[in-house]
Amino acid sequence: MKKTVELYEGKAKKVFDTDIEGVVIVSYKDDATALDGLKKGTIMGKGAINNRISNYLMQLLEKEGIPTHFVRELNDRETAVKKVSIVPLEVIVRNISAGSFSKRYGVEEGIVFEEPTIEFSYKNDALHDPLLNAYHAVALDLADKTEIQHIKLLAFRINYILKEFFKTRNIKLVDFKMEFGRLPDGTIVLADEISPDTCRFWDYDTNQKLDKDRFRRDMGGVEDAYEEMYRRVFG
Ligand code: TMP
Repeated sequence: MKKTVELYEGKAKKVFDTDIEGVVIVSYKDDATALDGLKKGTIMGKGAINNRISNYLMQLLEKEGIPTHFVRELNDRETAVKKVSIVPLEVIVRNISAGSFSKRYGVEEGIVFEEPTIEFSYKNDALHDPLLNAYHAVALDLADKTEIQHIKLLAFRINYILKEFFKTRNIKLVDFKMEFGRLPDGTIVLADEISPDTCRFWDYDTNQKLDKDRFRRDMGGVEDAYEEMYRRVFG
């Protein structure tokens, strides 16, 4: 498989077209941003770690019957994935209060929910990814009702599978963000990445943060946290 043209450069990844119909190559960068891109930095080794962790989790999910964009890992930083049209929603599932949930509703971090929650944001940097509900998403024609219903079901199943997996690695899956894409035939698949950039991971015993919050909150030990997550996943 050969890269042809660069299709897109995002904050943490580049996407290249290939000589194979329906397949693109994602290339993970060490660049990190937070606060809507206002805070910029580099997390050494992050690209390779996120690539490998995300691919591991996508394959685990595929085994459990979740359709994903994953095709094949090419090298440390690059992966072949199915070309999809991204549903412009950030789908966030939470098991434990943290981050914007705690801020918005004025509650401490660390409250374990009886049932996971789900929320959607409109993927739109100029508008700062505003929160919206399923009716708003349909009104804005971001997805249709059936797609939203399906995305919700997939998101909760993915949460269950990942939560159980991370428990075996002595990690609490606090919350995480997903993006879904449409294949040419309309099938919805899990896309983007599942990594320490897009999840909150806390050590099961100490609640030590092992994810991008260390960068967002200037806590130090950022690279160490990514490396620790790599070790926890791959053993
Ligand atoms: P939040 O508490 O800031 O809303 O974040 C919820 C989860 O979503 C957390 O695991 C981090 C992830 N996330 C992203 O992956 N990208 C983003 O742009 C934001 C704001 C959060």
